[in-house]
Amino acid sequence: MDCAGLRTDPVAHAQALIDAGEAHRAARELRGLLAEGRGGALARTTLVTALLASGDVRGALAEAREAVSLNPAVPEVLVALGEALLAAENLPAAIAEFQRALRLEPGHMRARHLTGRAWLAAGEADKALEMFEGGDDVAGLADDIARAQAIKAAARSDPGYVRHLFDQFSADYDSRMLGQLGYAAPAILAQLADLVMPGRSELAVLDLGCGTGLSGAAFRARASRLDGIDLSPAMIEKARARGIYNSLEVADLETHLRREGRSYDLILAADTVVYLGDLALLFAAVAARLAPEGYFLFTVEQAQVADFELGPKRRWRHSEAYIRRLAQVSGLGVAGIVAAAPRHEAGEPVAGLAAALVRL
Ligand SMILES: C[S@@+](CC[C@H](N)C(=O)[O-])C[C@H]1O[C@@H](n2cnc3c(N)ncnc32)[C@H](O)[C@@H]1O
Repeated sequence: MDCAGLRTDPVAHAQALIDAGEAHRAARELRGLLAEGRGGALARTTLVTALLASGDVRGALAEAREAVSLNPAVPEVLVALGEALLAAENLPAAIAEFQRALRLEPGHMRARHLTGRAWLAAGEADKALEMFEGGDDVAGLADDIARAQAIKAAARSDPGYVRHLFDQFSADYDSRMLGQLGYAAPAILAQLADLVMPGRSELAVLDLGCGTGLSGAAFRARASRLDGIDLSPAMIEKARARGIYNSLEVADLETHLRREGRSYDLILAADTVVYLGDLALLFAAVAARLAPEGYFLFTVEQAQVADFELGPKRRWRHSEAYIRRLAQVSGLGVAGIVAAAPRHEAGEPVAGLAAALVRL
């Protein structure tokens, strides 16, 4: 690309380099400019853009923080920091910076669009759509709106929503679950295992949505191998600290199960299925991963009318009839389905089921 006409304006020249796919060079030139004391806020925000375009998120964050400390009341600078935080997947901090920019300049379209993108990453489609309103000439808007609509229409919780929710919840998950929420799903599933597979030990166990490892801990004694997967990196770190898993992976369970992999004598999902509505994919994938006479044990919250429905706390509920029907078409037998209260809400037990399915 011929940038000769822009050479008198080094920032415009750098932007042209970024647009031409030469972000590394743009970053080098902008750093040189700033080192000579010749660049202002625009040079720094363009440097943040260049670093992000070249994949250097850590460098972009450092430059953006420096820019904000020098120019704390310039919306563009706050937006640049928000963008770097968004790239670092620190959604709450990114949203806070975009909101600071919007307080300074309420009509800042880019700040609105990026706030919407951050909400999208957190699976918050309605909040994202609100931010996208009135922004017809922002690049990528149509795709972002389509993504928000897809999240709203999906028959499961969005992975971004689950991840964000549990990343935030991880620090005091165990104390809140075991305290005020009277969480009992791991113990309920352990009792169900005693009933349907008495005396079986040395099991290869997969814990779907392992969280901090409360469910794994209830099954460690009967496992020769215990693997856990979860969408939330912060929850996985808590599980790792427990030291009871042979392997842990940050992954979406539907994606994980569909990959080639080892088979298991027991697959668990304690209070995890509440983040999936349609269970067809899960049941089929579990059936494919269970060893002969392998069991799938899980808890659900109970739907009374529909096969599955989204409750007011954004947790999916499932009916017993649906579980039985889907088990049959997935090649799984029903070893037992019992009424259970996996947790309490506002002091009241939540009506649920604990199910044991077995590979036929
Ligand atoms: C209520 S916690 C239960 C954690 C653990 N099983 C226990 O008994 O304490 C639900 C967990 O499922 C995870 N989760 C939800 N949907 C998931 C999915 N599609 N793939 C992987 N993990 C998921 C969440 O991140 C969260 O850690």
